[in-house]
Amino acid sequence: MNDVAKVSGRTGPEPLQELSGPVIIPTEAYVSEEYARAERDRLWRKVWLQAGRLEDIPEVGDYITYDILDDSVLILRTAADKVGAYHNVCTHRGRRLVDTPQGARNARGNRRQFTCGFHGWTFGLEGRCTHILQKEDWRGALTDERTRLGQVTVDTWGGWIWINLNPECEPLRDYLEPAAGVLDPFELQNMRYKWRKWVVFDCNWKVALEAFDETYHVPATHPEFMQFGDFRGWGRPRGRHSHIGYDAPEGLEETQAKLRLGKGKDPRVSTARMQQFTQDTVNAVTTRTLVDAALRLVDELPEGTPPDRVLKHWLESARRDDAARGVIWPSVDPGHIARSGTAWQVFPNFQIGHAVNNALCYSARPYGYDPDRCIFEAAALELFPRGEEPKTEWIKCMPTVEDFGPVLTQDFSNMAAVQQGMKNGGYRGNMPNPKSEGAVASLHRNLARYMGAGEPRPLK
Ligand code: FES
Ligand SMILES: [Fe+2]
Repeated sequence: MNDVAKVSGRTGPEPLQELSGPVIIPTEAYVSEEYARAERDRLWRKVWLQAGRLEDIPEVGDYITYDILDDSVLILRTAADKVGAYHNVCTHRGRRLVDTPQGARNARGNRRQFTCGFHGWTFGLEGRCTHILQKEDWRGALTDERTRLGQVTVDTWGGWIWINLNPECEPLRDYLEPAAGVLDPFELQNMRYKWRKWVVFDCNWKVALEAFDETYHVPATHPEFMQFGDFRGWGRPRGRHSHIGYDAPEGLEETQAKLRLGKGKDPRVSTARMQQFTQDTVNAVTTRTLVDAALRLVDELPEGTPPDRVLKHWLESARRDDAARGVIWPSVDPGHIARSGTAWQVFPNFQIGHAVNNALCYSARPYGYDPDRCIFEAAALELFPRGEEPKTEWIKCMPTVEDFGPVLTQDFSNMAAVQQGMKNGGYRGNMPNPKSEGAVASLHRNLARYMGAGEPRPLK
């Protein structure tokens, strides 16, 4: 059991952990080609990576691929309750076994066997080589062992499929703690994609993720949100991971989390306006049910209702409305919700912005060895009535208002400019706010352990 769950009866923020005071982070991790090259062996081939969702491969024989730098992994459902992962390379002369269609994020399909396009060696769902043309020519040297596809370690948590290219890796669950333990009550495995989009950015993968792992940027980047709430936040290291949340007034601790009240004289009105605005501009972080329940607050509650009662009423009525259509929110202790914050940064490159009925997730990975480019993915998940889950695909997008709406586009607008700025000869290093940008410092402290370089230094 993790330490947050243990104290779930308590409300209010827990003490900051392991904060080391102000630091300065050298720019090497963002801009150095040598560092970007070293990441393949020191980082990407060592860590657990979120490579897809179980809903991508519901039937036996369903497969997807996941590519990271030089490595491609074939992930497939080998049996009703079993997922396998293999190096996506033919064991004969090294042709990539399954090609990614031009312009697609990954390959996807259903097969009972995989036949290599070069000389026709064929592999079954368990990775065994089942057909070799003129096998006798090898005079018995082609054992099963020699010809079967190379195994990649795979496991699942939260509805996601995780892979690890290091055969000696620690178990997924151990790696994910304490994030997994804190997020388990949110039952993320029951959510399904509402939409998912990917885009190539002109910035390092860390710059892209760090645009979303703090709330310090809200007043300057998203000024229109300031009318709805106070977005002062915290970012706390949690082992190799970290999480972020909002500061909250006494009695409203739950608003540290995602589903929060609007500010001002009349929280009935401001909550409804913030919800509607979020729905219209982000199409994530909230749901239709939450918006509708917020819009009814002025009819259902008298003027002057205290904020804590408004919050309770809103969330309870949305929970009831969803239950009536077969969408059952998990019951999570409000104190636990409060302390879990708004999002977890799962080391090194995945962020889960969690709530009891939806999630907004981001991931980023390198685009080749160019430190100035990355593949960025954003996915909204939600609880749907059984049988009404939308069918979604990864959609290749541009970082524009048309493709992502105005709010995410505001975030994107900083990325290339940060990447460019960090290469400026006069720039001395990244100085994250020790309280609200703690996730940035945490990422680099942990990266330095893998990379042997780029350790944040105390800022004195
Ligand atoms: S490389 Fe695959 S069959 Fe020859
Ligand atoms: Fe933002």
